[in-house]
Amino acid sequence: MIREQIDALTRYDGEVGEIIRREYDRMQDGLELIASENVTSEAVLLAAGSILTNKYAEGFPGHRYYGGCVHIDEMEELARTRACKLFCAEHANVQPHSGAQANLAVYAALLQPGDPVLGMSLADGGHLTHGSPVNLSGMHYRFASYGVDPETGLLDYDELDKKAKEYRPKLIVAGASAYPRVIDFARIAKTAREVGAYFMVDMAHIAGLVAAGLHPSPVPYADVVTTTTHKTLRGPRGGMILCKKELAKVIDKGIFPGTQGGPLEHIIAAKAVCFGEALTPAFVEYQKKILSNAKALAAGLTEEGFDLVSGGTDNHLMLLDLRSANITGKELETRLDAVHITANKNAVPGDPLSPFITSGLRLGTPAVTTRGLNEEEMREIAHDIRLAAVDFENRAEEIRASVAALCAKHPLFV
Ligand SMILES: Cc1ncc(COP(=O)(O)O)c(C=O)c1O
Repeated sequence: MIREQIDALTRYDGEVGEIIRREYDRMQDGLELIASENVTSEAVLLAAGSILTNKYAEGFPGHRYYGGCVHIDEMEELARTRACKLFCAEHANVQPHSGAQANLAVYAALLQPGDPVLGMSLADGGHLTHGSPVNLSGMHYRFASYGVDPETGLLDYDELDKKAKEYRPKLIVAGASAYPRVIDFARIAKTAREVGAYFMVDMAHIAGLVAAGLHPSPVPYADVVTTTTHKTLRGPRGGMILCKKELAKVIDKGIFPGTQGGPLEHIIAAKAVCFGEALTPAFVEYQKKILSNAKALAAGLTEEGFDLVSGGTDNHLMLLDLRSANITGKELETRLDAVHITANKNAVPGDPLSPFITSGLRLGTPAVTTRGLNEEEMREIAHDIRLAAVDFENRAEEIRASVAALCAKHPLFV
């Protein structure tokens, strides 16, 4: 189906079609280990490419600023209902265009400019939108940060508690982009309650695991939960906000008219498809395989002699600490790209190098698991990564052959 779609597009616009064809080949011929990426189903793609892109629908179901929204309302209601069922949530806003938009909308809804907020440090695995000075979050609000214990790589809950009591934030933000362990939401919620702060969890990375019951859900503990829909959840590129009923109106206002205009209803349709898929037993099995593959990759990398931040992983991702391997994150990322393994350099806790170089590499298993790779193949990939790090010049061809064989055995698109 996907090839035919590209062929059809190429007949309308050769230049655009050919670029998409080249990207199709890149995806097909390479191993995707970026922890935040995945491969959606054909059904998600069909909905995302549907006629719903034509419709303006500012507002929410039943309260729109445009006529002709009867079917759009049905679709958005379906997406909201499925999201609430999937995550046992009281209210869902499915309009955020992305994870960053979801987070900014929550801040706009709950905070005044200059309010104190406590979030996880970007250098320790947090996200830019959790208070980085180069992001609007850090420019408009007074963020302080907590992080991980530099020795263990584990979230330092005592430090978080101490900082919250000193700083008295109006909001505590939990959730991460590069943290390989389970996050204890109940514990952070207790701190938030003690200091009278709202508690927001950004579960963007782990949403699929949460949906499948394989990571504790933040929904019972947090006032607001934000997520992306395209990482472990395997939906279209987009965002979502879940909250308690009491906050529904104020959160909705944070999205519209607060920070967005018309919703992307074609993407909302694709989110509905994704939530429908995530409600099936097959999705739970898929998430279990993400975890077993991550464990196998982490064990393989350790056997190959790499250090892993926190010594391993509980979720879909892991962080290589390359300081003992004598190579930077940037250099290893470049070498892996050249042998068709895609990953991203990433700071490790206490990293002495700049974010453009880094001493770490982040790896994740959602996309290769969608593709059907198994635990034994994770160990082969671990070996390939080791060869790229220690003997790239002599072994590049051998790694390319290994990657090509794995890709041929597990076609991404058929
Ligand atoms: C924890 C977390 N929150 C938010 C985002 C932002 O999502 P988006 O790129 O859709 O804006 C990311 C993206 O990687 C993330 O890891």
